[in-house]
Amino acid sequence: MDLQLTGKIALVTGASKGIGRAVAEELAKEGANLVMTARTQEPLEVAAKEIAAMTQREVVPLAGDMSKSEDVGRCVNAALKKFGRIDILVTCAGSSPGGLLEDLTEDQWMSSLNLKFMGYVRSVRAVIEHMRERGEGSIVLVVGNDGLKPSYWEMTAGVANAADINFASSVAEQYGRYGVRINTVNPGPVNTDRWDGLEKAFARDKKVDQARAHELAISSIPFHRICEPQEVASLVVFLASPRAAFINGAHIPIDGAQRKALMDI
Ligand SMILES: NC(=O)c1ccc[n+]([C@@H]2O[C@H](COP(=O)([O-])OP(=O)(O)OC[C@H]3O[C@@H](n4cnc5c(N)ncnc54)[C@H](OP(=O)(O)O)[C@@H]3O)[C@@H](O)[C@H]2O)c1
Repeated sequence: MDLQLTGKIALVTGASKGIGRAVAEELAKEGANLVMTARTQEPLEVAAKEIAAMTQREVVPLAGDMSKSEDVGRCVNAALKKFGRIDILVTCAGSSPGGLLEDLTEDQWMSSLNLKFMGYVRSVRAVIEHMRERGEGSIVLVVGNDGLKPSYWEMTAGVANAADINFASSVAEQYGRYGVRINTVNPGPVNTDRWDGLEKAFARDKKVDQARAHELAISSIPFHRICEPQEVASLVVFLASPRAAFINGAHIPIDGAQRKALMDI
């Protein structure tokens, strides 16, 4: 299926590695030109160069911290200056800490909400007027299945994710009439550095080693494995594409029917 993405302009946040990197690569393979953001310049530039070489698309790396309004605004303005428009926004910049209620500090709660929730709100706010004026645009928030299936060892992520899902539903209703779509993609465990960190936190809190934590995670998923970033990217890129023109305000799990309670030993 041709996803009709050739020549589209996409902005992907949190794109130097993990899910964001896989999304950026798939979008470019489908013919989109890209702006990629992350905080750390060097790996971002390496990723952008690799994707550009692989796809012959224009790929612009812009370092920025999505927990800061001024950085979000700067990256969006630079993307508009470079390409004249933004057709697609995909948000992946998130790193909510794992941990139990009795151990989590107020700073950890605030950093989770400031990046995973407010970072996504900021990114949407920064592009939405532009998309509304053009009468088209597609936004995909990479959120997480703990917004839909809470687990007490991923509480700060789950709360921010639930807020993202609620926010996206409101935006879908308000801006759908202007031709702007927004959807969320909700992975369970995905094979990235972030999952490795969460697995370590889970092992610490459950007083098991990481191998046991991993075994519990895969045992909670009927496929008996965790997801790969490319599998999330395939869903994101479809939702971002004109092929998904009637999908708006949807919250799609991609967790292999994970039963999280099975991790609770
Ligand atoms: N992996 C999972 O199991 C899983 C499951 C459900 C949901 N998710 C969600 O999916 C998204 C991507 O996760 P991932 O596993 O791909 O994470 P990852 O491998 O840790 O990659 C995170 C990316 O975001 C960037 N980033 C982190 N903080 C940032 C900030 N303040 N501003 C801008 N960029 C920032 C990182 O680069 P820098 O550090 O250089 O900034 C990196 O490019 C996150 O929102 C995560 O919560 C992941």
